[in-house]
Amino acid sequence: MSTDAGAAGADSSIERELERMLEIEKFPPPAGFSASANWSDPAIYEEAATDPVGWWTERSKKLLDWDVEPTAGLNDSDPPFYKWFEDGRINASAQCLDRHVAAGRGERVAYHWRGEQGERRDITYADLYRDVQRLANALKGLGVRKGDVVGIYLPMIPEVAVSMLACARIGAVHNVVFGGFSAEAVRERMEFAEAKALITVDGARRKGKTAPIKEQVDEQMGGVGSLATIVVVRSTGIECPMTEGRDVFYDEVMEAADPECPAEPMEAEHPLFILYTSGSTAKPKGILHTTGGYLTGVTATHKYVFDLKPDEDIWWCAADVGWVTGHSYIVYGPLANGATSVMWEGAPDYPHQGIWWEIAQDYKATIIYAAPTAIRTFIKWGAEIPEKYDLSSLRLLGTVGEPINPKAWLWYHQVIGGGRCPIVDTWWQTETGAIMITPLPGITVTKPGSATTAFPGVSAEVVDEREGKPVEEGQGLLMLEQPWPSMLRTLYKEDDRFVETYFSRFGRDRYLVGDAARRDRDGYFWVIGRIDDVVNVSGHRLSTAEVESAIVAHPDVAEAAVIGQSDEDTGQAICAFVTLRGGNEPSEEVEEGIRDTVATRIGKFARPKRIVWADDLPKTRSGKIMRRLLRDIAEGRALGDVTTLRDPGVMQELEAKIAEEAADES
Ligand code: WTA
Repeated sequence: MSTDAGAAGADSSIERELERMLEIEKFPPPAGFSASANWSDPAIYEEAATDPVGWWTERSKKLLDWDVEPTAGLNDSDPPFYKWFEDGRINASAQCLDRHVAAGRGERVAYHWRGEQGERRDITYADLYRDVQRLANALKGLGVRKGDVVGIYLPMIPEVAVSMLACARIGAVHNVVFGGFSAEAVRERMEFAEAKALITVDGARRKGKTAPIKEQVDEQMGGVGSLATIVVVRSTGIECPMTEGRDVFYDEVMEAADPECPAEPMEAEHPLFILYTSGSTAKPKGILHTTGGYLTGVTATHKYVFDLKPDEDIWWCAADVGWVTGHSYIVYGPLANGATSVMWEGAPDYPHQGIWWEIAQDYKATIIYAAPTAIRTFIKWGAEIPEKYDLSSLRLLGTVGEPINPKAWLWYHQVIGGGRCPIVDTWWQTETGAIMITPLPGITVTKPGSATTAFPGVSAEVVDEREGKPVEEGQGLLMLEQPWPSMLRTLYKEDDRFVETYFSRFGRDRYLVGDAARRDRDGYFWVIGRIDDVVNVSGHRLSTAEVESAIVAHPDVAEAAVIGQSDEDTGQAICAFVTLRGGNEPSEEVEEGIRDTVATRIGKFARPKRIVWADDLPKTRSGKIMRRLLRDIAEGRALGDVTTLRDPGVMQELEAKIAEEAADES
């Protein structure tokens, strides 16, 4: 029996129901849902496909209030350096705030924020509008100019949205680093981007403990020459070191700042943000998004994929703002649409395992958007926990970040959605800016485990590896075949790497996603996973090379090879094969030391779950580590071809090690 079934088996009637539903497989939109959906006519797909550029341009003008309306749609004169809505002018913060306040919606709650210790703050659009203007002026006063990069390293507190929008207001480019990354990872991302300023916090709370963030930041940031200012939000009130002439408190600069900061209309292609994500090499990629196209993509998808009715819905995207999901669906999409959101500071199991459902019940959340990993965790904790709460306000559920297994989908549908809520399994990436493959909840017949079909105006294809020709049924490489407004524009300061990574395989006009997928008879997409050396742990993207380089920083380690191994809880887990320097013996101490090194260099979430001690690693004659063989061995599969190895004996030794490990466990 699989773990999923075992956990749901806590309630055998649910178990039976799930089994029954797996056989049905297809879920048409409920009739009542379609009747009032923002989009219910499938003709929209045709309409968009006939003239995608015209269709997106039209959407953009309808959804956004441009200061200067664009006359241009797509400029594709120099692929893959595409430009969208080039002659338009718009300010992202004004789209998210000013226009709602001007229309009399200032008193609407933008965020129902809930703190870990039960604190409640309701932040209205007028509140954000006021704070963003002050912070924008404060940043200007600190010397931040249009085009400068500003780092943001904050926990899930409302100031994170204020900081992002204040940057957007003055044309500064924000570079948010997820709070789970270590200070060292922050330093690296500030150095790469030559950040002028960093907005961070005195301390961050996590499950009742407070981490001294500013102190950790200080240990790292001394060497970043470009960094002139650190703005510190006093969030927890813990003591923190401040450097005269460099560090200022957020509340003090806000207080001193001029309250009015008119939004400056930006060119549509003005950079809005950089977000570092993992790629095939140890150096993270600075994904660059610009203003007009990105806003068009997130506003349209947020409204139509989630059927958002801003006057009625309570929206809750349970991601962290430090990932792209948070950028697009906690900040820009929901605010541009004038939605009311829930923002939760903490973890899903603190102060108790029912906290999500307690919050959903309290605010009468209508839509929840979460990662499959979270759902699998809730399954493990048992259906009786959410069943204690009234979740009848929910009308739509979404997932993102990794493939969802059909049983988890069904559990989400039954236990959380009460069998009445459509589920949108949304596939996209940091690079795509907005959702690309997804059901439309009033139109699409869903199948558990499939992200279904491309959003209108998006062209996705599964192609064969050799020639890049479409594969009608079966597995291949996922491609996006035509440009879309919210696509990344480049890798920050690395144009060549941008072309090489995404546009070198089958031409400069075809975006190579980096995922394998298959299409079924109905043309639905089933995303399988990454084809590169990227591992997806609980929906967090990590590069194997990045983790390897952290592990070899441990003084006892000679060499390391990292692979992603399937994991029931986290989707994939990090498994590291490690060889030690001569004279060092494997021990629990070294093992813990390695995990600590990874936590310090990248973040706790990147720590290897499993460490296998190896005398040697399987290498080709040219010295390349054969990760494929390591994946086979870790997953207990028959070994593939070993004839290209320099020393085939290495694999026998490793097999013996794994057998030993298995024997120890039992
Ligand atoms: C994976 C997160 C299957 C995929 C928004 C992609 C998914 C990577 C799904 C991007 C999904 C995301 N089904 N796989 N619905 N959504 N992925 O940049 O491998 O953090 O390439 O963006 O997550 O991760 P990223």
